[in-house]
Amino acid sequence: MTSVELSGKVALVTGASRGIGYGVAEALLARGDRVCITGRNEEALKEAVEKLGADRVIGVAGKAHDEAHQAVAVERTMEAFGRVDFLVNNAGTNPVFGPIADLDLNVARKVFETNVVSALGFAQRTWHAWQKDNGGAIVNISSVAGVSASPFIGAYGISKAAMINLTLQLAHEYAPKVRVNAIAPAVVKTQFAKALYEGREEEAAAAYPLGRLGVPSDIGGAAAFLTSTQSDWITGQTLVVDGGIFLNAGVG
Ligand SMILES: NC(=O)c1ccc[n+]([C@@H]2O[C@H](COP(=O)([O-])OP(=O)(O)OC[C@H]3O[C@@H](n4cnc5c(N)ncnc54)[C@H](OP(=O)(O)O)[C@@H]3O)[C@@H](O)[C@H]2O)c1
Repeated sequence: MTSVELSGKVALVTGASRGIGYGVAEALLARGDRVCITGRNEEALKEAVEKLGADRVIGVAGKAHDEAHQAVAVERTMEAFGRVDFLVNNAGTNPVFGPIADLDLNVARKVFETNVVSALGFAQRTWHAWQKDNGGAIVNISSVAGVSASPFIGAYGISKAAMINLTLQLAHEYAPKVRVNAIAPAVVKTQFAKALYEGREEEAAAAYPLGRLGVPSDIGGAAAFLTSTQSDWITGQTLVVDGGIFLNAGVG
């Protein structure tokens, strides 16, 4: 049990048993929110709930793209906490590496289903369950791969770009009740991104003007800001959180 003063607010964070989602959950808990986290592996999810603090956290296991899971996750959040102010669409996948000229279209569909359609599904459900009458905020976790060409992870990049337009559409449609923004991180040290830096972290970090790779709390801080009253006049934006890597564009 933590001694943090409760904010009275409740967040649903998808894909939060580890990595960025876990970092977001930690940041929201630290300011007093109660949180529902999701993930596919039930055991890992249980462990995360225990670690984060079962007094203010519940876990609902399932695949983000599964509509029945989406419904249960929102229902359980409402049952446990009575409201769902914030949605952080974080669950995502990047199963292939290679040129899109040879991409299996079924893989492309799967990437879209998990990264984009799921986010829309959750945003529909939190809207109808709570946000349309009571307000709130949504944060979609996109990627720098969605705002630039992303060689060898093209399907992922296309889906992350789509999340940015999903953010614009939702921000327009859900205003003024609900603010909707996105975060576009560069490489954050998680299991998902390991292949990009493992065994060569110093070299990878050297490309970043701020001298290091990201950590989940960097994204947690940005998500906390975008779901706080400090960002009350910000909607439809994509906040690039990248250690300054984009400052290198055009150099060389
Ligand atoms: N790390 C980076 O450098 C980076 C950069 C830009 C954007 N992002 C984005 O940030 C998000 C989180 O990535 P991460 O790096 O934190 O990954 P991670 O460390 O692999 O964590 C992913 C989390 O999501 C869950 N998850 C994965 N697929 C899921 C699905 N289909 N349905 C429900 N839960 C699922 C995982 O648990 P289970 O495996 O048990 O399901 C885990 O809790 C992704 O959308 C990714 O595209 C990451």
